[in-house]
Amino acid sequence: MSLAATGDLVREAAAGGRAVAAFNIITLEHAEAVVAGAERVRTAVVLQLSENAVKFRDGQLLPIARAAAACAEAAAVPVALHLDHVKSPELLRQAADAGFASVMYDAAHLPYGENLEATRSAADWAHANGLWIEAELGEVGGKKGDAPLDPHAPGARTDPDEARRFVSDSGVDALAVAIGSTHAMTTRTAALDHALLARLAKALDVPLVLHGSSGLPDSELAAAVAGGIRKVNIGTALNVAMTEAIRSNLTGADPRPYLAAARTAMTATAAAMISALN
Ligand code: G3H
Ligand code: ZN
Repeated sequence: MSLAATGDLVREAAAGGRAVAAFNIITLEHAEAVVAGAERVRTAVVLQLSENAVKFRDGQLLPIARAAAACAEAAAVPVALHLDHVKSPELLRQAADAGFASVMYDAAHLPYGENLEATRSAADWAHANGLWIEAELGEVGGKKGDAPLDPHAPGARTDPDEARRFVSDSGVDALAVAIGSTHAMTTRTAALDHALLARLAKALDVPLVLHGSSGLPDSELAAAVAGGIRKVNIGTALNVAMTEAIRSNLTGADPRPYLAAARTAMTATAAAMISALN
């Protein structure tokens, strides 16, 4: 199947009152497992690569992007490629030629005016190059191993009025909102601010994106989708599954048995989390 477009997958999910799952991949095994999990539950999916994952590859985008694209093209379900948490304008500009249908431009750490200015210029570039663009307002904490933000700290929640202005002034296609989730949680114990999500869904007419979704139990994921979240970003849950499987299968010198176990475990995680959103 040829590569899908993230915007189309989000639109189709929204039309059905669902959310599309977008999984952060680091290795080829992550990509293979996400595709296998999506095929198992016969549902479209997004494979996403973060700027941090590219840094892990010594800044080389193409080797892992081409591998992900090949997995996507071989899939029996629609799969789109998304470049995630991009801060570097140089990396942003590589997206279109590397098979990505969409990008998330992340200037959420900047003060409002600077976030808006940087995001507007990223959106102009993205649209001129045929890409769907997501941005973030209010900051979902815990990025790159940072300490989680205090959920009551200023900036740890997205303000609906500010969000409406931000979307209209920046021209982005989707908005990541801070409603109580935190990146990199290894337990599924977080709870969302559903009242705030309801206000955001009412105030905004672009799809809302949830980050840091690994920390949420299935019931919270389902409630987020019911409340209007249309793209759900998941990374750490795959890494937890992978690392546990490797730990329990780490014998001998051949990496294939433990990598196969890791892929099997990540496939099960991906399938289960996609199902929680549908
Ligand atoms: O953009 C990526 C996600 O927000 C993943 O967050 O690793 O906490 O699931 P997570
Ligand atoms: Zn994120």
